[in-house]
Amino acid sequence: MRKFLVAGNWKMNGSSAANDALVAGITSGLTQSGSVEVLVCPPFPYLAAVAEQLRGSSVALGAQNVSEHASGAFTGEVSADMLVDIGCKYVIVGHSERRALYGESSEQVAEKFRAALNAGLTPVLCVGETLSERDSGRTEEVVAGQLAAVVALSGIASLASAVIAYEPVWAIGTGKVATPEQAQDVHKFIRGRLANENEDVAAAVQILYGGSMKGENAGGLLRMPDIDGGLIGGASLKSADFLAIVAAANEI
Ligand code: PGA
Repeated sequence: MRKFLVAGNWKMNGSSAANDALVAGITSGLTQSGSVEVLVCPPFPYLAAVAEQLRGSSVALGAQNVSEHASGAFTGEVSADMLVDIGCKYVIVGHSERRALYGESSEQVAEKFRAALNAGLTPVLCVGETLSERDSGRTEEVVAGQLAAVVALSGIASLASAVIAYEPVWAIGTGKVATPEQAQDVHKFIRGRLANENEDVAAAVQILYGGSMKGENAGGLLRMPDIDGGLIGGASLKSADFLAIVAAANEI
């Protein structure tokens, strides 16, 4: 049985004071009985402080990006070992904002994925199509290509130690959420693609949906058989909004 994972991607938002309030709100609002896995991904400068705040809670810590390199002369970069060192368990790789705004190719994303795994982090691999790709009927081709780069470099078995996030670019930060059926179609496609190579990996891997997920639409999405949680941007910045999604998952 796959567990739900509700992950907050704070993006470039927050401050020490705002994070204190957000984390306190999340940790105090989580019910002990909940079986949903919860993850927050703050910006780099706050990771160590949030790790401290989360100590003793069931909430996991992740970063939003990682270098594909292990160490050395890479000014401004952060290695996977450093993330482990300060308490991260997860790292997002290949978010569409990094692909679109910072030119990360699927091959580079695959290298970041490998670096994360080698350090013992769980990569959250983001895949998803733009609106024009969807409109031209290329959604499956795009998503398959993004997955294939990771499988080519690290092998299908590597996905047993990873999380996949399907995030249609047109739904991110736009308020335009994919319908449960639209999302399920792609999630099913992803799982089927993996099953062609390894059925056990396909059955075990958590596939999150991301793109304008909130408390009001989470239940419908999370009820779909291949949707195992959410990667949440906007609605992860207020504890009540984020907890509403966790609660929706707990109700299923
Ligand atoms: P959103 O962002 O929830 O604000 O649409 C999701 C994401 O980019 O991970």
